[in-house]
Amino acid sequence: MNAPTAANRRILVVDDNQAIHQDFRKILCSPPASTALDAMEAALFGSPATAPVDPGFEVDSAFQGEEGIAKVKTAVAEGRPYALAFVDIRMPPGLDGVETVRRLWKEDEDLQVVLCSAYSDYSWEEMTQRLGLSQRLLILRKPFDNIEVRQLAHALSEKWELLRQSHNRLEDLKREVSAWTGELALANERIAKEMDDRAKLELRLVQAQRLEALGRLTAGLAHEINNPLSVIMASVGFLRSELDEQLAGRHQLDAGEMREVCSDALMGADRILRIVNDFRIFSRLDGHPQTRVDLNEVLDHAQSAASYNLGRAQVVRDLQNAPAVQGSEPGMEQLFLGLLNNAGYATQNTAEPRIVITAREREEGWVMVEVKDNGTGIAPEHLGRIFDPFFTTKPPGTGTGLGLSIVYGIVSGFGGTIEVESTPGQGATFRVKLPRSTEAAAPSSSSSSSMS
Ligand SMILES: Nc1ncnc2c1ncn2[C@@H]1O[C@H](COP(=O)(O)OP(=O)(O)OP(=O)(O)O)[C@@H](O)[C@H]1O
Ligand SMILES: [Mg+2]
Repeated sequence: MNAPTAANRRILVVDDNQAIHQDFRKILCSPPASTALDAMEAALFGSPATAPVDPGFEVDSAFQGEEGIAKVKTAVAEGRPYALAFVDIRMPPGLDGVETVRRLWKEDEDLQVVLCSAYSDYSWEEMTQRLGLSQRLLILRKPFDNIEVRQLAHALSEKWELLRQSHNRLEDLKREVSAWTGELALANERIAKEMDDRAKLELRLVQAQRLEALGRLTAGLAHEINNPLSVIMASVGFLRSELDEQLAGRHQLDAGEMREVCSDALMGADRILRIVNDFRIFSRLDGHPQTRVDLNEVLDHAQSAASYNLGRAQVVRDLQNAPAVQGSEPGMEQLFLGLLNNAGYATQNTAEPRIVITAREREEGWVMVEVKDNGTGIAPEHLGRIFDPFFTTKPPGTGTGLGLSIVYGIVSGFGGTIEVESTPGQGATFRVKLPRSTEAAAPSSSSSSSMS
């Protein structure tokens, strides 16, 4: 905001007649003599106790148009512009008043102008044609009335002042707007950079998570294979030293003991074989084309493959009109085989083991398949770990703990999700969300059945 400055009382008189300059000075420089109008005002309203003091104007003279233009130019350059110029229309031998005014405004567009003329040198139309219709121009006919000149000077210098204030205000606003715009641009830049940083950070996080998962998997794998491998090596080493003793005739082989040691080695080898097979499932599943998969068909296959683990369990299928899903057939089979194997294992000691499979199109484009059993359930402290590779609660040598991590990998590969809910002692429910297939149905496929 600009601080208020002293009012501009500078006036330029441009006239070739020397005497006129004296007249203007007399009228404008000295405080006004009390007039008949003042007297009337005092008589009517009483004289004001603190009438504002009129300090008069500062009057400058130019005797030709060119001189006036030069003075206005200097005044602007020095930062002391004139508020108003009285310009005579006829100023031989130089520029006439209208041309002078046109050029004065080129130097100072805020300058208020009074054109003084004794007779009609120009019509109003001619003047506006040359100068344009302007709010800054007034015409004053000679001979002047002193009061009229003084009133004009007051009114136009006041107008100049108001104009200046509004210009300043506009400048202030422009500066404020440009400052805000600058701040906004900076803030936008900061936000864009933060978003960029964040995206990079997220990418690094995902990469770090992948590396961490891979690290865990390989560490687990090394550990899982190391144990049975140690058993195999110890057994084979023992066998060889026993055979050496026998060959040297120092020792008689104990066939029973030898058989036991061989069994240990075989158990270890079997464990490694299972881990390797589980891992081969991953690679086997990779690269299969994703097509329309009928849930009933894959469940048939999965159920027969899991029959050993399902034992006595009653399996109920309630698929109603669930649509086909999108994925690879071997992948889907492996996914339900993993879930059914686990459900069968969990229900092996349940009095009336029961596994219910339901499928519904819950939200547009997605099919929710539930596998619910009434088995042991999952301890709350294990819920967060069951999808980890090698996590198992089975006794040593029975499971690799890779079943659910394979299931998880398959579901993610199809773009779906899997979650679990369980009450220990009452059973577990696995919910798999799979994308609905958009491919057309094969003519022979059935969409619902129930079997046990
Ligand atoms: N339906 C279920 N009911 C109870 N616990 C379950 C069920 N499904 C999985 N779990 C728990 O999750 C663990 C991990 O399951 P996962 O299938 O990954 O490995 P596993 O079954 O132990 O071994 P593997 O699948 O190699 O035979 C299981 O050991 C068990 O504790
Ligand atoms: Mg399992």
